[in-house]
Amino acid sequence: MDYQNLMDRAKEVSKNAYIPYSKFPVGACVLTENENIYTGCNFENASFGLTICAERNAIGTAIACGERKIKAIAIYSPNSDDCFPCGACRQVIYEFQPEYGVDVITEVNGELKVYKLNDLLPHGFDL
Ligand code: THU
Repeated sequence: MDYQNLMDRAKEVSKNAYIPYSKFPVGACVLTENENIYTGCNFENASFGLTICAERNAIGTAIACGERKIKAIAIYSPNSDDCFPCGACRQVIYEFQPEYGVDVITEVNGELKVYKLNDLLPHGFDL
Protein backbone atom coordinates (compact mmCIF):
# COMPACT_ATOMS: atom_id res chain seq x y z
CA MET A 1 0.00 0.00 0.00
CA ASP A 2 1.27 3.42 -1.01
CA TYR A 3 1.82 5.60 2.06
CA GLN A 4 1.00 8.72 0.04
CA ASN A 5 -2.47 7.28 -0.44
CA LEU A 6 -2.84 6.90 3.34
CA MET A 7 -1.76 10.50 3.84
CA ASP A 8 -4.17 11.72 1.16
CA ARG A 9 -7.02 9.95 2.96
CA ALA A 10 -5.92 11.43 6.30
CA LYS A 11 -5.96 14.90 4.73
CA GLU A 12 -9.39 14.38 3.27
CA VAL A 13 -10.96 13.20 6.52
CA SER A 14 -9.34 16.02 8.52
CA LYS A 15 -11.85 18.30 6.75
CA ASN A 16 -14.62 16.60 8.75
CA ALA A 17 -13.04 17.24 12.15
CA TYR A 18 -15.46 18.65 14.72
CA ILE A 19 -13.27 21.21 16.45
CA PRO A 20 -15.30 24.18 17.78
CA TYR A 21 -12.99 24.56 20.81
CA SER A 22 -9.41 23.96 19.67
CA LYS A 23 -9.85 24.80 15.95
CA PHE A 24 -7.17 22.15 15.43
CA PRO A 25 -8.31 19.63 12.80
CA VAL A 26 -6.65 16.22 12.64
CA GLY A 27 -7.19 13.31 10.26
CA ALA A 28 -5.85 9.78 10.55
CA CYS A 29 -5.78 6.83 8.20
CA VAL A 30 -5.02 3.30 9.35
CA LEU A 31 -3.71 0.46 7.18
CA THR A 32 -4.45 -2.98 8.62
CA GLU A 33 -2.79 -6.34 8.14
CA ASN A 34 -5.68 -7.29 5.83
CA GLU A 35 -4.71 -4.34 3.59
CA ASN A 36 -7.87 -2.42 4.44
CA ILE A 37 -7.88 1.27 5.27
CA TYR A 38 -9.98 3.18 7.80
CA THR A 39 -10.14 6.88 8.47
CA GLY A 40 -11.05 9.04 11.44
CA CYS A 41 -11.04 12.68 12.50
CA ASN A 42 -11.01 14.29 15.93
CA PHE A 43 -14.30 15.32 17.49
CA GLU A 44 -14.52 17.53 20.52
CA ASN A 45 -17.02 18.06 23.30
CA ALA A 46 -18.07 20.96 25.54
CA SER A 47 -16.83 18.69 28.32
CA PHE A 48 -13.29 18.92 26.97
CA GLY A 49 -11.97 15.67 28.40
CA LEU A 50 -14.43 13.71 26.24
CA THR A 51 -12.64 14.76 23.05
CA ILE A 52 -11.69 11.84 20.81
CA CYS A 53 -8.49 12.05 18.78
CA ALA A 54 -8.45 11.28 15.07
CA GLU A 55 -6.21 8.24 15.57
CA ARG A 56 -8.49 6.60 18.11
CA ASN A 57 -11.53 7.32 15.96
CA ALA A 58 -9.90 5.59 12.97
CA ILE A 59 -8.70 2.67 15.09
CA GLY A 60 -12.13 2.25 16.68
CA THR A 61 -13.70 1.94 13.24
CA ALA A 62 -11.09 -0.62 12.19
CA ILE A 63 -11.73 -2.67 15.33
CA ALA A 64 -15.50 -2.51 14.81
CA CYS A 65 -14.93 -3.92 11.32
CA GLY A 66 -13.11 -6.91 12.79
CA GLU A 67 -9.51 -5.77 12.27
CA ARG A 68 -6.92 -6.54 14.95
CA LYS A 69 -3.50 -5.61 13.54
CA ILE A 70 -2.36 -2.18 12.37
CA LYS A 71 0.57 -2.01 9.94
CA ALA A 72 0.66 1.75 9.49
CA ILE A 73 -1.12 4.96 10.44
CA ALA A 74 -0.89 8.33 8.71
CA ILE A 75 -1.65 11.49 10.72
CA TYR A 76 -2.31 14.93 9.33
CA SER A 77 -3.23 18.38 10.54
CA PRO A 78 -3.29 21.42 8.27
CA ASN A 79 -2.21 23.38 11.37
CA SER A 80 1.03 21.50 12.01
CA ASP A 81 3.97 19.93 10.22
CA ASP A 82 5.04 16.56 11.57
CA CYS A 83 1.79 15.98 13.49
CA PHE A 84 2.59 13.17 15.94
CA PRO A 85 0.08 11.04 17.84
CA CYS A 86 -0.42 12.08 21.46
CA GLY A 87 0.79 9.77 24.21
CA ALA A 88 -2.64 8.21 24.76
CA CYS A 89 -2.98 7.40 21.05
CA ARG A 90 0.52 5.89 20.98
CA GLN A 91 -0.55 3.43 23.65
CA VAL A 92 -3.78 2.64 21.76
CA ILE A 93 -1.82 2.02 18.53
CA TYR A 94 0.58 -0.17 20.54
CA GLU A 95 -2.30 -2.45 21.57
CA PHE A 96 -2.81 -3.46 17.93
CA GLN A 97 0.83 -3.61 16.85
CA PRO A 98 1.90 -6.68 14.86
CA GLU A 99 5.22 -8.29 15.79
CA TYR A 100 6.97 -6.47 12.92
CA GLY A 101 5.89 -3.07 14.29
CA VAL A 102 3.80 -0.12 13.13
CA ASP A 103 4.86 2.64 10.76
CA VAL A 104 3.69 6.09 11.88
CA ILE A 105 3.54 8.46 8.93
CA THR A 106 3.59 12.25 9.12
CA GLU A 107 4.16 14.99 6.59
CA VAL A 108 6.74 17.76 6.69
CA ASN A 109 6.74 20.40 3.97
CA GLY A 110 4.79 18.06 1.71
CA GLU A 111 7.24 15.16 2.28
CA LEU A 112 6.31 11.97 4.08
CA LYS A 113 8.25 10.93 7.18
CA VAL A 114 7.99 7.41 8.57
CA TYR A 115 8.66 6.58 12.22
CA LYS A 116 8.46 3.27 14.07
CA LEU A 117 5.92 3.24 16.90
CA ASN A 118 8.53 1.58 19.13
CA ASP A 119 10.74 4.67 18.74
CA LEU A 120 7.84 6.97 19.66
CA LEU A 121 6.67 4.76 22.54
CA PRO A 122 9.43 2.68 24.06
CA HIS A 123 8.19 0.21 26.68
CA GLY A 124 4.47 0.45 25.86
CA PHE A 125 2.20 -1.07 28.47
CA ASP A 126 1.23 -4.75 28.20
CA LEU A 127 -0.78 -6.99 30.51
N1 THU B 1 -5.67 15.57 18.61
C1 THU B 1 -5.78 14.48 17.81
O1 THU B 1 -6.79 14.30 17.12
N2 THU B 1 -4.76 13.59 17.78
C2 THU B 1 -3.62 13.72 18.51
O2 THU B 1 -2.78 12.81 18.52
C3 THU B 1 -3.37 14.94 19.27
C4 THU B 1 -4.53 15.85 19.46
C5 THU B 1 -6.78 16.53 18.66
C6 THU B 1 -7.54 16.54 19.96
C7 THU B 1 -8.12 17.94 19.96
O3 THU B 1 -9.35 17.91 19.27
C8 THU B 1 -7.13 18.76 19.15
O4 THU B 1 -6.30 17.83 18.48
C9 THU B 1 -6.26 19.66 20.00
O5 THU B 1 -5.68 18.96 21.04
